[in-house]
Amino acid sequence: MKSLVLEKQHELSLRDFPAIDKAEETLAPHDVRIKIHTVGICGSDVHYYTHGRIGPFIVNAPMILGHEASGTVIEVGSAVTTLKVGDRVCMEPGIPDPNSKATRLGLYNIDPAVRFWATPPVHGILRPTCVHPEAFTFKLPDNVSFAEAAMVEPLAVGVHAATKARVKPGDSAVVLGAGPIGLVTALAALAAGCARVYVTDLAQQKLDIAGSLSPAIVPVNARSENLVDIVRRDTDGWGVDVVFEATGSPRAAGTVFEPLAPGGCVVMIGGQPDPIQYDAGAAMVREARVENIFRYAHVFPRCVSMLSSGAIDVKPLITRSFDFKDSVQAFEIAASTPPADVKMQIVLP
Ligand SMILES: NC(=O)c1ccc[n+]([C@@H]2O[C@H](COP(=O)([O-])OP(=O)(O)OC[C@H]3O[C@@H](n4cnc5c(N)ncnc54)[C@H](O)[C@@H]3O)[C@@H](O)[C@H]2O)c1
Ligand SMILES: [Zn+2]
Repeated sequence: MKSLVLEKQHELSLRDFPAIDKAEETLAPHDVRIKIHTVGICGSDVHYYTHGRIGPFIVNAPMILGHEASGTVIEVGSAVTTLKVGDRVCMEPGIPDPNSKATRLGLYNIDPAVRFWATPPVHGILRPTCVHPEAFTFKLPDNVSFAEAAMVEPLAVGVHAATKARVKPGDSAVVLGAGPIGLVTALAALAAGCARVYVTDLAQQKLDIAGSLSPAIVPVNARSENLVDIVRRDTDGWGVDVVFEATGSPRAAGTVFEPLAPGGCVVMIGGQPDPIQYDAGAAMVREARVENIFRYAHVFPRCVSMLSSGAIDVKPLITRSFDFKDSVQAFEIAASTPPADVKMQIVLP
């Protein structure tokens, strides 16, 4: 029963983790036990490995990594009604306090008490099994693979972003950044009705993947092309209806209003550890609406439906897959940020 453990910054090991086995011995009435199948490697997992912290979350004790997961139900609690043994599922990794004010207001993702996998001190999911609440476990249709299902977590960020943008049929959008989050956001914006989505990045290989996803995606190389000129040219100088910031780069985030149309919406997705430049004047003359995203709420079933119907295809984003025994090597490769990779996944035995 090995787990992938971040012992401390720069040190990973595959080893037994008796404390977690012990913690999961009992199944509460509304819980299910799941055998983990596939886990995606997220930028945050890699950041804990390379930096030992993300903002206030510091790895002070060994922690199991991973939060983008799919698997199979192997046991159900006495009060579970919607799942049965053998069901293939994906799991939402953040469990809020059901009685908190945020949860009661429908904002459970910003509940300060939320317990999110692989965010210290909460362990992640690169381990053989887990116990999880039925309410945060979602059954998969037969035509959604475990690999696609492990993409539901990042996809949920894009779907939440498109939802908060209130995309309308025929809108145009810009997505800054063609990492996994930028690309799922572009796919979600198209599924929500965008006619055209401009996707920028500095890495041409990422843009080639972006361009291959849909004829409605226009890749723009931020090094060699001028996004604002291209958008102005295509929109008679008006601009796009929505700009999604998905780079996490302060420089890119400082430019979000430039391609935006009057009355448009900016959605901030990329993480910013420090305060950034914000062009309040450019926002004001456009009467821009600005939305912020913190993970997602209430979107996993929608993501599963869109994967099943074909409205969204995430398969081209899964660029590499590793056996669980090669997890440490997988993280070393992910930490080297290979330019032609979007999402790497680990498959458990
Ligand atoms: N708000 C949330 O809930 C949430 C959830 C998940 C991830 N995030 C954040 O979203 C961001 C993106 O996540 P990711 O996993 O895709 O990261 P990533 O690092 O894989 O992707 C970022 C991409 O932006 C590109 N980029 C950097 N500077 C650029 C610039 N000036 N112009 C154009 N492109 C540029 C990079 O080349 C890279 O491909 C990160 O900051 C991450 O922390 C936020
Ligand atoms: Zn993630």
